[in-house]
Amino acid sequence: MANIIVPPDWHIPERLATPEWVFWNRRHFLRQLGFAGAGALAVPLAGCAKAETPETTSKTNGAANAATPSGAYLAARNPEFSPSWTLTNEKVAGRYNNFYEFTLSKDVYRYVDKFVTAPWRIQIGGLVEKPMTVDAMELVELFGLEERVYRMRCVEAWAMIVPWTGFQFSRLIAKVAPKPEAKFVRFETFNRPGQAPGMGQVPDYPWPYFEGLRLDEALNPLTLMVTGIYGKPLPKQHGAPIRMVVPWKYGYKSIKSIVKIDFIDTQPKTFWETLQPNEYPFESNVNPNLPHPRWSQATERMIDSGDRVKTQLYNGYGKYVAPLYAKG
Ligand code: MTE
Repeated sequence: MANIIVPPDWHIPERLATPEWVFWNRRHFLRQLGFAGAGALAVPLAGCAKAETPETTSKTNGAANAATPSGAYLAARNPEFSPSWTLTNEKVAGRYNNFYEFTLSKDVYRYVDKFVTAPWRIQIGGLVEKPMTVDAMELVELFGLEERVYRMRCVEAWAMIVPWTGFQFSRLIAKVAPKPEAKFVRFETFNRPGQAPGMGQVPDYPWPYFEGLRLDEALNPLTLMVTGIYGKPLPKQHGAPIRMVVPWKYGYKSIKSIVKIDFIDTQPKTFWETLQPNEYPFESNVNPNLPHPRWSQATERMIDSGDRVKTQLYNGYGKYVAPLYAKG
């Protein structure tokens, strides 16, 4: 195991240069996915101001009342997650990332050229009645997409507010039908050192990146499987083509570029917990009153404005998740 442990670096200066990637349009997106027919995806066309997801089942799932979809990869915004917060500048969010497979620095976008994100098989199995192996975009077809504005809080004490496009993870769980013994979900990222230069730079890290949630956390309506951001398919540096977003936990729980999901009966180890268990425990809920061993978590810095604001317990999502952690 690792002799040299490089902790996440929270002193790296922000890089606020102008963007270099070309914004995706729907045609480009379909080409990437290898879909010939324009009707193949259940994604509303660009320019549809009132796009709707194909399934609008519950209050948190549904997005029937579309509000301000924002780009070429439109999905109706779920009104329950459409706060009046100011969004983080998109260019800044796309140039200030953590994705250690590519680099330990924040300018991940410079190192992702070789990364192939389509086709993208995901294996879903373990203690389930209906295991499946699917392409990430088949999941989009199955579940449709909605947009949600969430706060994201990194353990390094920076934060952003972004519109994610995805589907509630509980719907995938229902599809594969976990057995009663399933108590946890384990996620794993790709393992391709040839496409991800960071993996070779720190070969002692326990690649591929892996994470986990309790089953009740995975079932929580907030837990989102994400394929887009700012109304566009995920750029590689944000975890293309598919990632988790668990907004009440520190960002490292939101694993990127997932290839494997297993339902299991015991609490899995996680990547960062394996490296530094006292600094990155399994649960890792955002908590201003519990300092990281090396720094305070009382405040956080917004990555674009530089504003320092008070950290909120559960990143402000206590209404949804506090009961998960009520003792007794
Ligand atoms: N997932 C993988 N596979 N590899 C990583 O290094 N970093 C995590 C998380 N998911 C990481 C990952 C961390 S530390 C954070 S803060 C978030 O991704 C950052 O997400 P963003 O770059 O889209 O803002």
